[in-house]
Order: sequence, then C-alpha cells, then structure tokens
Amino acid sequence: MVDGGRVLGGLFVVLVVGAVPAWIGSVRSAAARPEVALPAGGGRCVVAAARMRSEHPALLADWRTRAVRSGVRSYHAEDGREFSIDLSETCFSCHDSAVSFCDRCHTEVGIAPSCWGCHAKATREKP
Ligand code: HEC
Ligand code: HEC
Ligand code: HEC
Repeated sequence: MVDGGRVLGGLFVVLVVGAVPAWIGSVRSAAARPEVALPAGGGRCVVAAARMRSEHPALLADWRTRAVRSGVRSYHAEDGREFSIDLSETCFSCHDSAVSFCDRCHTEVGIAPSCWGCHAKATREKP
C-alpha cells in the first residue's frame, strides 16, 4: 500500500523546490532589464533585440577580434545590412546615450565594463 498523502506531499516539495531556481532566474533577468531609453525612431538593432540583449558582449568581442586581429572593419548583419565595426560610432549612432542605455542595465546587474577609458562613451551623449 502506498501512502497517497505522503506521495502527494513529497511531490509538492519536489515541485516547489524545483521551481525555486526558475523563479530566482526570472527575478534576475527582470532585474537585468530595467527601463532603457530605446531609439525614438524605432528601427532594428544590428542583431534582433531579444538576442542582442544576451549576445552583445560576444558580438563586441567578435567585432574587436575582427578589427584588431584581421583588419576587418565592416560587418554584414544577418538581414543584409552592413555596419561599420566601431563600438562608439555604430552603437551610438542609434543609441543616443550610454548613460540612459548601456549603464542603466549594467548598474542594475552590478558591472561596469571597462571600455570607456579608451573608447568614446557616446558620440551624442546628452546630459
Ligand atoms: C586600454 C584601452 C582599451 C580598452 C580598455 C578597450 N579597448 Fe577596445 N580597442 C582599443 C584599441 C586601441 C582598439 C583598436 C582601435 C582601432 O584599430 O580602430 C580597439 C578596438 C576595439 C574594437 C573594434 C574597433 C572599434 O573602435 O570598435 C571593438 C569592437 C572594441 N575595441 C571593443 C571593446 C570593448 C567592448 C571594450 C570593453 C569591454 C574595450 N574594447 C576596451 C583599446 C581598448
Ligand atoms: C541601426 C540602429 C542600431 C544600431 C546601429 C545598434 N542598435 Fe541596439 N537597438 C536598436 C533598436 C531600435 C533596439 C530596440 C529594438 C527592439 O526592441 O526591437 C535596440 C536594442 C538593443 C539592445 C536590447 C535592449 C533591450 O530592449 O533589452 C541592446 C543590448 C543593444 N541594442 C545594444 C547595441 C549595441 C551594443 C550596439 C553596437 C554593437 C547596437 N545596439 C547598435 C537600434 C540599434
Ligand atoms: C538590456 C540591458 C543591457 C543593455 C541595454 C546593455 N547591456 Fe551590456 N550587459 C548587460 C548584462 C546583463 C551584461 C552582463 C551579462 C552578460 O555578460 O551577458 C552585460 C555585459 C556587457 C559587456 C561585457 C562586460 C565584461 O566585462 O565582460 C559589454 C562590453 C557590454 N555589456 C557593453 C554594452 C554596451 C556598449 C551597451 C550600450 C550600447 C550595452 N552593453 C547595453 C546588459 C545590458
């Protein structure tokens, strides 16, 4: 004979404990996406925004390798558009402000990418 109550109770514990990491994960990713100032005119990012959110560090690292190691200065996006491989000029040609865009997320997750000692933070930074 199986004690149905105990089995159900055990199942409940497993479900709750199992759900905790997912719950923490969703709280974390919500924390990593505060309100950011998006380009007023809309448009599309270099990579689809949902992917850009998680892949921009890898994209920038890839851009650096292409430019510095291979001397490649032009990037063909998947949708056929062509972008100049230039952190300051290209990213900030659409995103007006590093302060109200990049920094807003980074501060939220407690990081401060050390790029700005060398790269211009924004071409059209607004106070
Ligand atoms: C110590 C100075 C320094 C720091 C810090 C630095 N870079 Fe650079 N980076 C350079 C130099 C110098 C080049 C080569 C510039 C060129 O050839 O146009 C370069 C080139 C690049 C390029 C390709 C060309 C361009 O202007 O976009 C990318 C992309 C890039 N870095 C990304 C980053 C990112 C992202 C960070 C922060 C995580 C970073 N870099 C931090 C000095 C630095
Ligand atoms: C042609 C204009 C354009 C360029 C160039 C551009 N972006 Fe974007 N980016 C956008 C737009 C528009 C959105 C919002 C689109 C959306 O939500 O569908 C966006 C979204 C993003 C997001 C996601 C924000 C969110 O909603 O969570 C990140 C991160 C991002 N961009 C980083 C970058 C970086 C880094 C660069 C330079 C490598 C860059 N962008 C270059 C237009 C651009
Ligand atoms: C929607 C939120 C969001 C926006 C907007 C955003 N970032 Fe990030 N960025 C993150 C998160 C979260 C991380 C750390 C986690 C990761 O590596 O994916 C990160 C990591 C990075 C890193 C790697 C840092 C390191 O030390 O390895 C670089 C470089 C970077 N971001 C550059 C930018 C630039 C440049 C912009 C603005 C053009 C920008 N990000 C906009 C959320 C964002």
